[in-house]
Amino acid sequence: MRFLLTGGAGYIGSHTCVCLLEAGHEVVVLDNFINSCPESIRRVEKITGKKVALYEGDCCDEAFVNRVLDEQPIDAAVHFAGLKAVGESVSIPLRYYQNNLGATLTLCKCLAAHNVKRIVFSSSATVYGDSKIVPMSENLPMGSCTNPYGWTKWMSERILQDAAFADPEWSVMLLRYFNPVGAHESGLIGEDPIGMPNNLMPLICRAAGGKLPMLSVFGSDYDTPDGTCVRDYIHVMDLANGHLKALEYAVSHKGVEIVNLGTGEGYSVLQMIRTFEEANDLKLPWRMADRRPGDIAASYSNPAKAADLLGWKATHTLNDMCRDAWHWQTLNPNGYRA
Ligand code: NAD
Ligand code: UFG
Repeated sequence: MRFLLTGGAGYIGSHTCVCLLEAGHEVVVLDNFINSCPESIRRVEKITGKKVALYEGDCCDEAFVNRVLDEQPIDAAVHFAGLKAVGESVSIPLRYYQNNLGATLTLCKCLAAHNVKRIVFSSSATVYGDSKIVPMSENLPMGSCTNPYGWTKWMSERILQDAAFADPEWSVMLLRYFNPVGAHESGLIGEDPIGMPNNLMPLICRAAGGKLPMLSVFGSDYDTPDGTCVRDYIHVMDLANGHLKALEYAVSHKGVEIVNLGTGEGYSVLQMIRTFEEANDLKLPWRMADRRPGDIAASYSNPAKAADLLGWKATHTLNDMCRDAWHWQTLNPNGYRA
């Protein structure tokens, strides 16, 4: 089958390209490179020995998306394209709403015009809000988001559900990712944040590589076993594989399914630091710091639905995630920039 990946040159998209190509599918990538570069796709082609049809342009541009779909008949789309920096979304909310909601609406309109009513959407555990209930199951009520980025995920889920309610021909998979980390085992593709990252793993890698003098652990007084925040870190290749399973499901079912993609295991920031040190035989410089506003104490998934519905389970350990993230970083200290 042939699948369209909007935002397919980005971190999760590029790893999903590898997974889909290796499963024998064809991949069409549409990306404006606002947070990525074509080199990731060249690396995907190197890993797989297969070609990707790559289109540079904006997913909010209806004429452009229609042209891609005219030229490339597809079976389903995976919609990764979006801006994702939580802090930035607080500073420039309208840009986030315009880009993330605009891209979702435009893509749906163009897909429907081409009679392709199958979409897999990149949502986030952020839609659970400040839930005190863990593990988080898909049937938890959606929470109140703490930032515009989170609301764009919340609203996109709503838009896609309403579209499917109005037209039962739609197949919609809302995938709620927990905390994706790690890289392809080759070290050829990985996470390449532009500017100073906000997420824990890229910051750990910077601290390990000497680019960040000291890692701050945000908060030591949470109601968790060691006082630091707990998250469900998931290897990006497991996540990529979840998209393959979701696409296989989407092409043979109609309606909406919401599916968590996480391991079901929660690890604290201190456990992550220790595992990274052990996996890579190094010492990280770190210190305790104040809580980061907006962080919740614990977030981890109930992954049972993904297993039941899709036959999917994460297989990589935290050790694998730390090893592969550092392998990518050591081979590519400046990311995709030479
Ligand atoms: P990323 O920034 O690496 O990838 C997103 C890609 O979309 C980039 O290549 C960017 O250039 C592209 N893009 C953005 N706006 C576009 C537009 N209007 N038109 C065309 N291309 C556009 O991010 P990622 O980590 O790979 O995340 C992929 C998706 O998963 C995003 O929607 C993100 O919000 C979501 N998500 C990510 C995480 C995470 O922690 N990485 C967690 C939950 C959900
Ligand atoms: N942390 C530190 N020090 C740092 C950076 C992070 O201690 O320098 C801690 C945070 O306080 C948090 C944990 O590491 O407890 C993970 O933080 P991340 O920023 O890596 O991830 P978050 O769980 O805060 O956010 C992620 C995604 C969001 C998504 C959210 C909910 O980045 O896009 O999960 O799914 F909205």
